[in-house]
Amino acid sequence: MKKYIGMDLGTSALKLILIDEEKRILKSVSKEYPVFYPGENRSEQKPEDWLKAVKSGLEEICAGTDKSEIAGIGVGGQMHGLVMLDENDKVVRPAILWNDTRTGKETEYLNNIIGKEKLQSLTGNIAFAGFTAPKILWVRENEPEIFARCKKICLPKDYINYILTGVFSTDVSDASGTLYFDVENRKWSQEMLKIIGIDESFLPQVFESGEVIGKTDILGLDCPVVAGAGDNAAAAIGTNTVNEGQCNISLGTSGTVFIPTDRYVKTENPALHSFCHANGKYHLMGCILSAASCNKWINETVFDSLYNVTADISGNTSPCDGLFFMPYLSGERCPHNDGDVKGALIGLTHAVSRKDIQKAVYEGVSFAIKDCVALCPEKIKFATVCGGGTKNRDWMQILSDILVIRLDIIDNEGPALGAALLAAGIQTQPDIKYSVSPNPENIEYYEKKYIKFKKLYPILKDFYREEK
Ligand code: XUL
Repeated sequence: MKKYIGMDLGTSALKLILIDEEKRILKSVSKEYPVFYPGENRSEQKPEDWLKAVKSGLEEICAGTDKSEIAGIGVGGQMHGLVMLDENDKVVRPAILWNDTRTGKETEYLNNIIGKEKLQSLTGNIAFAGFTAPKILWVRENEPEIFARCKKICLPKDYINYILTGVFSTDVSDASGTLYFDVENRKWSQEMLKIIGIDESFLPQVFESGEVIGKTDILGLDCPVVAGAGDNAAAAIGTNTVNEGQCNISLGTSGTVFIPTDRYVKTENPALHSFCHANGKYHLMGCILSAASCNKWINETVFDSLYNVTADISGNTSPCDGLFFMPYLSGERCPHNDGDVKGALIGLTHAVSRKDIQKAVYEGVSFAIKDCVALCPEKIKFATVCGGGTKNRDWMQILSDILVIRLDIIDNEGPALGAALLAAGIQTQPDIKYSVSPNPENIEYYEKKYIKFKKLYPILKDFYREEK
């Protein structure tokens, strides 16, 4: 029986799964690596840590399987990250990640001097601090010697595919998040490359996500590797979010709202990304930079306890109507496009308990997801939800109450499964672990609370600017 490996190069870990041609998940493996925060608004990873995880992860996932049965590999991964290689293909500096917002100046230059209209007409999108183009401008300005040594530029999962196959490639869904890719026409934008001063010879060849880019012989394997996808498009394949009218919400380190579209859409509100899907079509997406990672932070760092994803909030007695959490621990992407804004807990009193704070964190992340949902041109009627945040039922109920839609919670590793399905060239109907519907008693309460939540960002945003 043929088997396929899917990998998801996440921010906290590499996740691998092995499936058979009947789409059964035979095994899954996870290999963690660190994120480095070398200064305010900065987040980086070492590509050599990813490679170690790929090697040991592949060894573990293949153990006990006849390697000649492995018929394909697909890799999905964190989007927008900047990986720079020299003429000998050596990494010249740590990768700058999607949630690194050091590029405020460069983002303003692109949006205000080049202009949002022009960017949107060339690429389908405006500039956000986490996108790849402003990162390139930042390295050129701040690390000219490193920039001079750079001869190749790629995205995180493309570096893995390069090592696996020797083919320098990217796929349309991941390339969409660079801001030098013409999303509508699915190719590099020559005009954007001129604006950022990069020659096309620095960039990988563009493939559709399911296309085979080459073969790998790593660790005795002998199988084709497909171009793969950005993690959100891969998750959409894994949750079968492929048609108009569907929506997938992913709650991992980031939180995303993913809406497939048949055609390219020029968004009226460019806070929403307009990207290529991994199925030959397109999609819209809203992204918040901190989602399940807020829960991890409050438990591990503030409460100093082990990250307890199933921490329940039952028995919560004090009304915490006035308690708000702003989930901007890495600044914010959608809708505020503000790398300087910070997280906050507002409305603390002696009556507030630990459980109230926990609940406020779930609410704050859900309100930020609602901010993205509110940008969508069509009303969202229901959504699938995947990612680590789904392990917490209390949170899923709060999210449903706040979005006022039914949520189908998906029981799979969305992006890794999507990557394996791309390699296998098949679709799946995912298993729904459980569904939640809005509790009518909570709808009005949360509508009022959301109106208050929305007042907080405009009040606080200048405070962080003045501080600088
Ligand atoms: C999407 C985004 C994040 C990363 C997380 O635009 O930046 O979802 O892909 O891995």
